[in-house]
Amino acid sequence: MNHKIEIRIAEDPKFAAKHVALEFAKAIRKNPSIVLGLATGGTPVEVYRFLVDYYQKGEISFEQCTTFNLDEYVGLGPKHEQSYRYFMQQNLFNHIDVPEEKTHVPDGIAQDLKKACQDYEAAIKAAGGIDLQLLGIGENGHIAFNEPGSDARGRTEVVELTENTITANSRFFGSTDDVPRKAVSLGIGTILEAKEIILMATGESKAKAVARALEGEPCGDSPASFLQTTNKVIFVLDLAASQLLSEATCQAAIQIS
Ligand code: F6R
Repeated sequence: MNHKIEIRIAEDPKFAAKHVALEFAKAIRKNPSIVLGLATGGTPVEVYRFLVDYYQKGEISFEQCTTFNLDEYVGLGPKHEQSYRYFMQQNLFNHIDVPEEKTHVPDGIAQDLKKACQDYEAAIKAAGGIDLQLLGIGENGHIAFNEPGSDARGRTEVVELTENTITANSRFFGSTDDVPRKAVSLGIGTILEAKEIILMATGESKAKAVARALEGEPCGDSPASFLQTTNKVIFVLDLAASQLLSEATCQAAIQIS
């Protein structure tokens, strides 16, 4: 292992989520006008619950924060229950004091998707770049919707989802047929520009992708492995997601509780 990714291992998913939420809370307190990069899916739900709790207790405020989400399904508008805009409203934005105009989720129903992608990149730049990015990881090693084979320099664009991702995400839809085949996704190049990145992974189903991301050479077969090429990346795992890591990697990891 010759990369600089810091690995932190929690006993269970709840501790992992609390740890990530505390890192976000600390960063928001330090820089109230922070630009946050946010993710959707099953992994961050508990993180957002903790953040809502800290907000409700008066421990943090999102009033001056700006947020950018990683991705959105093509064809799903903000009112669609499986759209990522809807997810963010339900799980976080509706419960905190972030002004709606400061929250950004890619537009999956834009007439001109190419232009919408360019505008999204420009908006991130205009905000000064992403200070702290939250990532999940797909079972196939994807980050955002950058599937295996993606370019490390990729920018925000329309991408095709792989069968693996469609099957994994069908748990949120009625059936695999209902899962959109395309999404707008931040590119790997865009993600790598974030000043700090926290990738969270929990559960046995992520163990293989986590081990590949941390232990193989950075290469397109594992988009998450490109995180080895940038500074200030932390992987927060639970025991199950860390179970395929080599002994040497585990020894270098920090145990958290
Ligand atoms: C979601 C995203 C995806 C997910 C990944 C893991 O915004 O960017 O890369 O992080 O598919 O999804 P879950 O957390 O549902 O296992």
